[in-house]
Amino acid sequence: MKWVVLVGSVRKGSYNAALARALPGLAPEGVEVALLPSVASLPIYDGDIEAAGMPQAVTDMGGAVAAADGLVIVTPEYNYSVPGGLKNALDWLSRIKERQPLKGKPTLIMSASPGALGGARAQYHLRQILVALDAPVMNMPEVMVSQANKKIEDGVITDAGTSAFIGKQLAAFQGFVEKHL
Ligand code: FNR
Repeated sequence: MKWVVLVGSVRKGSYNAALARALPGLAPEGVEVALLPSVASLPIYDGDIEAAGMPQAVTDMGGAVAAADGLVIVTPEYNYSVPGGLKNALDWLSRIKERQPLKGKPTLIMSASPGALGGARAQYHLRQILVALDAPVMNMPEVMVSQANKKIEDGVITDAGTSAFIGKQLAAFQGFVEKHL
Protein backbone atom coordinates (compact mmCIF):
# COMPACT_ATOMS: atom_id res chain seq x y z
CA MET A 1 0.00 0.00 0.00
CA LYS A 2 1.31 3.43 -0.91
CA TRP A 3 0.29 6.80 0.55
CA VAL A 4 1.34 10.28 -0.48
CA VAL A 5 1.42 13.31 1.81
CA LEU A 6 0.52 16.90 0.98
CA VAL A 7 1.73 19.54 3.44
CA GLY A 8 -0.11 22.84 3.78
CA SER A 9 2.88 24.79 5.14
CA VAL A 10 5.99 25.77 3.21
CA ARG A 11 7.86 27.05 6.27
CA LYS A 12 11.23 25.39 6.95
CA GLY A 13 10.53 24.97 10.67
CA SER A 14 6.91 23.93 10.08
CA TYR A 15 5.27 21.80 12.78
CA ASN A 16 3.04 20.27 10.13
CA ALA A 17 5.99 19.37 7.93
CA ALA A 18 7.55 17.75 11.01
CA LEU A 19 4.42 15.61 11.41
CA ALA A 20 4.56 14.70 7.73
CA ARG A 21 8.20 13.64 7.98
CA ALA A 22 7.35 11.39 10.94
CA LEU A 23 4.63 9.50 9.07
CA PRO A 24 6.84 6.86 7.37
CA GLY A 25 8.07 5.81 10.82
CA LEU A 26 4.59 5.76 12.36
CA ALA A 27 2.67 4.07 9.52
CA PRO A 28 1.77 0.39 9.77
CA GLU A 29 4.22 -2.13 8.37
CA GLY A 30 3.92 -2.61 4.65
CA VAL A 31 2.74 0.95 4.01
CA GLU A 32 5.04 3.14 1.95
CA VAL A 33 4.68 6.87 2.64
CA ALA A 34 6.11 9.52 0.30
CA LEU A 35 5.94 13.30 0.53
CA LEU A 36 4.50 15.18 -2.44
CA PRO A 37 6.34 18.25 -3.76
CA SER A 38 5.72 21.53 -1.92
CA VAL A 39 2.46 23.36 -2.65
CA ALA A 40 4.80 26.27 -3.48
CA SER A 41 5.92 24.40 -6.61
CA LEU A 42 2.58 25.30 -8.23
CA PRO A 43 1.73 28.72 -9.69
CA ILE A 44 -1.33 30.56 -8.42
CA TYR A 45 -4.30 29.09 -10.26
CA ASP A 46 -4.94 31.00 -13.44
CA GLY A 47 -7.39 29.90 -16.12
CA ASP A 48 -5.14 31.43 -18.77
CA ILE A 49 -2.20 29.26 -17.67
CA GLU A 50 -4.52 26.26 -17.72
CA ALA A 51 -5.78 27.13 -21.21
CA ALA A 52 -2.17 27.34 -22.43
CA GLY A 53 -1.48 23.85 -21.05
CA MET A 54 -1.51 22.30 -17.60
CA PRO A 55 1.76 23.12 -15.76
CA GLN A 56 4.07 20.12 -15.48
CA ALA A 57 4.14 20.50 -11.67
CA VAL A 58 0.35 20.06 -11.58
CA THR A 59 0.44 17.03 -13.87
CA ASP A 60 3.23 15.49 -11.77
CA MET A 61 1.45 16.07 -8.46
CA GLY A 62 -1.81 14.77 -9.91
CA GLY A 63 -0.05 11.68 -11.26
CA ALA A 64 1.52 10.96 -7.87
CA VAL A 65 -1.86 11.29 -6.10
CA ALA A 66 -3.59 9.14 -8.73
CA ALA A 67 -0.94 6.42 -8.40
CA ALA A 68 -1.22 6.30 -4.59
CA ASP A 69 -3.74 4.22 -2.65
CA GLY A 70 -4.30 7.01 -0.15
CA LEU A 71 -3.68 10.72 0.39
CA VAL A 72 -2.72 12.31 3.71
CA ILE A 73 -3.08 16.09 4.07
CA VAL A 74 -1.17 17.68 6.96
CA THR A 75 -1.93 21.34 7.34
CA PRO A 76 -1.84 24.40 9.58
CA GLU A 77 -4.87 26.57 10.16
CA TYR A 78 -4.69 30.12 8.86
CA ASN A 79 -7.45 32.45 10.02
CA TYR A 80 -9.79 29.60 10.83
CA SER A 81 -9.33 27.94 7.44
CA VAL A 82 -6.78 26.23 5.20
CA PRO A 83 -3.68 28.09 3.96
CA GLY A 84 -4.10 29.59 0.50
CA GLY A 85 -1.28 27.49 -0.91
CA LEU A 86 -3.05 24.26 0.00
CA LYS A 87 -6.35 25.49 -1.43
CA ASN A 88 -4.50 26.50 -4.59
CA ALA A 89 -2.99 23.01 -4.94
CA LEU A 90 -6.41 21.40 -4.50
CA ASP A 91 -7.90 23.83 -7.02
CA TRP A 92 -5.27 22.85 -9.60
CA LEU A 93 -5.71 19.13 -8.94
CA SER A 94 -9.47 19.49 -9.36
CA ARG A 95 -8.87 20.76 -12.89
CA ILE A 96 -7.21 17.56 -14.13
CA LYS A 97 -9.98 16.42 -16.41
CA GLU A 98 -8.81 13.02 -17.67
CA ARG A 99 -8.99 11.56 -14.19
CA GLN A 100 -9.44 13.99 -11.32
CA PRO A 101 -6.93 12.43 -8.92
CA LEU A 102 -8.84 12.98 -5.66
CA LYS A 103 -12.11 11.52 -6.92
CA GLY A 104 -12.67 8.38 -4.85
CA LYS A 105 -9.20 8.70 -3.26
CA PRO A 106 -9.19 7.72 0.41
CA THR A 107 -7.98 10.81 2.26
CA LEU A 108 -6.79 11.50 5.78
CA ILE A 109 -6.43 14.89 7.45
CA MET A 110 -4.21 15.97 10.31
CA SER A 111 -3.18 19.37 11.62
CA ALA A 112 -0.89 21.00 14.15
CA SER A 113 -0.92 24.42 15.76
CA PRO A 114 0.68 26.12 18.75
CA GLY A 115 -2.88 27.06 19.66
CA ALA A 116 -5.37 25.19 21.83
CA LEU A 117 -7.52 23.76 19.04
CA GLY A 118 -4.76 22.21 16.95
CA GLY A 119 -6.16 23.46 13.64
CA ALA A 120 -9.64 21.95 14.09
CA ARG A 121 -11.42 24.72 12.24
CA ALA A 122 -9.18 24.32 9.18
CA GLN A 123 -9.94 20.60 9.17
CA TYR A 124 -13.67 21.20 8.84
CA HIS A 125 -13.16 23.71 6.02
CA LEU A 126 -10.88 21.20 4.33
CA ARG A 127 -13.53 18.51 4.63
CA GLN A 128 -15.97 20.86 2.89
CA ILE A 129 -13.53 21.45 0.03
CA LEU A 130 -12.94 17.72 -0.31
CA VAL A 131 -16.67 17.17 -0.86
CA ALA A 132 -16.31 19.14 -4.09
CA LEU A 133 -13.43 16.89 -5.12
CA ASP A 134 -15.44 13.78 -4.21
CA ALA A 135 -12.70 12.39 -1.97
CA PRO A 136 -13.81 10.00 0.76
CA VAL A 137 -12.32 11.41 3.97
CA MET A 138 -11.85 9.26 7.07
CA ASN A 139 -13.88 10.66 9.98
CA MET A 140 -12.30 9.13 13.07
CA PRO A 141 -9.96 9.24 14.86
CA GLU A 142 -9.09 12.88 14.32
CA VAL A 143 -5.54 14.17 14.85
CA MET A 144 -5.34 17.82 15.86
CA VAL A 145 -2.01 18.49 17.55
CA SER A 146 -2.56 21.43 19.90
CA GLN A 147 0.32 23.26 21.60
CA ALA A 148 2.55 21.86 18.88
CA ASN A 149 5.43 24.04 20.06
CA LYS A 150 5.56 21.89 23.21
CA LYS A 151 5.29 18.55 21.37
CA ILE A 152 7.56 19.13 18.38
CA GLU A 153 11.12 20.35 18.86
CA ASP A 154 13.74 20.96 16.19
CA GLY A 155 11.45 19.37 13.59
CA VAL A 156 10.92 16.16 15.55
CA ILE A 157 7.88 14.96 17.55
CA THR A 158 9.11 14.74 21.14
CA ASP A 159 5.78 13.92 22.76
CA ALA A 160 5.32 10.14 22.91
CA GLY A 161 1.54 10.41 23.32
CA THR A 162 1.30 12.40 20.09
CA SER A 163 3.31 9.83 18.15
CA ALA A 164 1.27 6.98 19.59
CA PHE A 165 -2.03 8.64 18.73
CA ILE A 166 -0.91 9.37 15.18
CA GLY A 167 0.10 5.71 14.89
CA LYS A 168 -3.46 4.72 15.87
CA GLN A 169 -4.93 7.06 13.30
CA LEU A 170 -2.66 5.67 10.58
CA ALA A 171 -3.61 2.09 11.48
CA ALA A 172 -7.28 3.06 11.15
CA PHE A 173 -6.51 4.72 7.81
CA GLN A 174 -4.93 1.52 6.52
CA GLY A 175 -8.27 -0.22 7.13
CA PHE A 176 -10.16 2.68 5.53
CA VAL A 177 -7.98 2.52 2.41
CA GLU A 178 -8.37 -1.26 2.18
CA LYS A 179 -12.14 -0.82 2.03
CA HIS A 180 -11.71 1.45 -0.99
CA LEU A 181 -9.19 -0.66 -2.94
C1 FNR B 1 -1.82 31.52 11.89
N1 FNR B 1 -1.91 30.67 12.98
C2 FNR B 1 -3.13 30.17 13.39
N2 FNR B 1 -3.22 29.14 14.29
C3 FNR B 1 -4.44 28.63 14.62
O1 FNR B 1 -4.51 27.67 15.41
N3 FNR B 1 -5.60 29.15 14.10
C4 FNR B 1 -5.58 30.18 13.21
O2 FNR B 1 -6.62 30.61 12.75
C5 FNR B 1 -4.31 30.72 12.83
N4 FNR B 1 -4.23 31.73 11.91
C6 FNR B 1 -3.01 32.06 11.37
C7 FNR B 1 -2.96 32.91 10.26
C8 FNR B 1 -1.75 33.17 9.65
C9 FNR B 1 -1.72 34.03 8.44
C10 FNR B 1 -0.56 32.61 10.18
C11 FNR B 1 0.77 32.89 9.51
C12 FNR B 1 -0.61 31.82 11.28
C13 FNR B 1 -0.70 30.21 13.67
C14 FNR B 1 -0.21 28.92 13.06
O3 FNR B 1 -0.86 27.83 13.65
C15 FNR B 1 1.30 28.79 13.31
O4 FNR B 1 1.98 29.85 12.65
C16 FNR B 1 1.82 27.45 12.86
O5 FNR B 1 3.14 27.31 13.33
C17 FNR B 1 1.78 27.31 11.35
O6 FNR B 1 2.00 25.98 10.98
P1 FNR B 1 3.45 25.45 10.57
O7 FNR B 1 4.03 26.38 9.55
O8 FNR B 1 4.28 25.41 11.84
O9 FNR B 1 3.20 24.08 10.03
